[in-house]
Amino acid sequence: MKKLIAGNWKMNGNLSANHALLAALAEGLRVKPACDVAVCVPAPYLAQVQSLKAASMDVGSQDVSAHAFGAYTGEVCAAMLKDFGVRYAIVGHSERRQYHAESDALVADKAKAALAEGITPIVCVGETLAERQAGQTEEVVKRQLAAVIHTNGHCISEIVLAYEPVWAIGTGKTASPEEAQAVHAVLRAQLKAATDMSARVKILYGGSMNAANASSLLAQADIDGGLIGGASLKAADFLSIIAAAQ
Ligand code: PGA
Repeated sequence: MKKLIAGNWKMNGNLSANHALLAALAEGLRVKPACDVAVCVPAPYLAQVQSLKAASMDVGSQDVSAHAFGAYTGEVCAAMLKDFGVRYAIVGHSERRQYHAESDALVADKAKAALAEGITPIVCVGETLAERQAGQTEEVVKRQLAAVIHTNGHCISEIVLAYEPVWAIGTGKTASPEEAQAVHAVLRAQLKAATDMSARVKILYGGSMNAANASSLLAQADIDGGLIGGASLKAADFLSIIAAAQ
């Protein structure tokens, strides 16, 4: 399957830095890459990114409201994202689960709200260090994915899944290719039990993926791409990861 390399800018950037980054990426992506590429950016910059991005690159958001519209101050709904050409929406990133107390059920509802507008949710799952050390990795990621399967039924084949061990995010500590593959295989089996079309679901790895470790992670059987934080803010690094995915 075609791999997907998605950048997650998190709460970084400004108009001029974005301009420079997008120009460098457009230059590097003049020849259409063999993998799919996207950048998930802060909502205020969606219009800027849409107008400056390489033609072969898609735009994503970092969150989406579970509600369709209405009195939800501060939230952004899927239809608004759609207005700005958004193709992907990250949901359930560990930073949102942790700092905004997002539950498995809310994450599942957000995935549903995105799908209802034809936006592909990138659903993040992953265990904390304490959970890994307690031997609970499988149980945690399966519980997180089960909620999304429960709420989304047969539409589950339309999502992108991202395994992001919390202890590997922004820490420089990557899961080894074997550790990551083991969890990806568990997730693949769970998807297979839920839908006949599990083979089309991309499962990305995220957590300190960089230019140096991308190829060995992406070579694993069930690793179909990457969700890249820090390294997506540097054009050269992000382009090397894209090159590693071809
Ligand atoms: P990182 O972030 O690549 O900076 O570890 C990944 C993510 O949180 O999506």
